[in-house]
Amino acid sequence: MITVISGTNRSNSRTLQIARHFTALIKDSGVEAQLLDLAKIDMAHYVEEMYDAKKMSPALVVLQKRFILDVKKIVFIVPEYNGSFPGVVKLFIDGISVNEYPKNLGGKHIALIGVSSGRAGNLRGLDHLATVVNHMGGWICPNKLPLSNVDTFLNDAGEMVHGPTDEALKKLASQLIAA
Ligand SMILES: Cc1cc2nc3c(=O)[nH]c(=O)nc-3n(C[C@H](O)[C@H](O)[C@H](O)COP(=O)(O)O)c2cc1C
Repeated sequence: MITVISGTNRSNSRTLQIARHFTALIKDSGVEAQLLDLAKIDMAHYVEEMYDAKKMSPALVVLQKRFILDVKKIVFIVPEYNGSFPGVVKLFIDGISVNEYPKNLGGKHIALIGVSSGRAGNLRGLDHLATVVNHMGGWICPNKLPLSNVDTFLNDAGEMVHGPTDEALKKLASQLIAA
């Protein structure tokens, strides 16, 4: 089972469209995949008590077990917000880190995909997130994939309409599956 995380809480995000597409690509290869949309996580989980594992929201613990603790491979798809990855991704990581710290990302294969409407494809944000993932013991797959000018390869319905980008995503999916 591979978890694909859509790393924003912005509604109707391009990131979620890429995440849906990438999840489908993995499944097309015959491997189980599940999508965690951070926009669906109740912000009420993120309260002062969140840093005490004993007081963590039970609903967040359930999500953490299914999407993080019980899997060995995770994909973070993160849009570029102000030159980095969104704060809600860090909030989620910090929130789960207080429970079963080493079992969250430790020793797991982690693939990173950046998404931007501008030209950088969140290259810097991918490096920032890689630093966090490495700090928590995760192995970053070698080909971090920056997707720039996102509006040119997804149509209004959120479908992939650009062959080379689709090929790059398929290549990353195969590398992660083989890892
Ligand atoms: C708060 C915020 C900050 C953003 N900062 C950048 C940026 O620094 N560089 C860039 O190319 N695009 C930036 N964007 C535009 C996103 O790249 C664009 O919305 C793209 O569709 C990916 O984000 P999405 O998944 O939320 O749709 C920003 C968008 C938001 C909402």
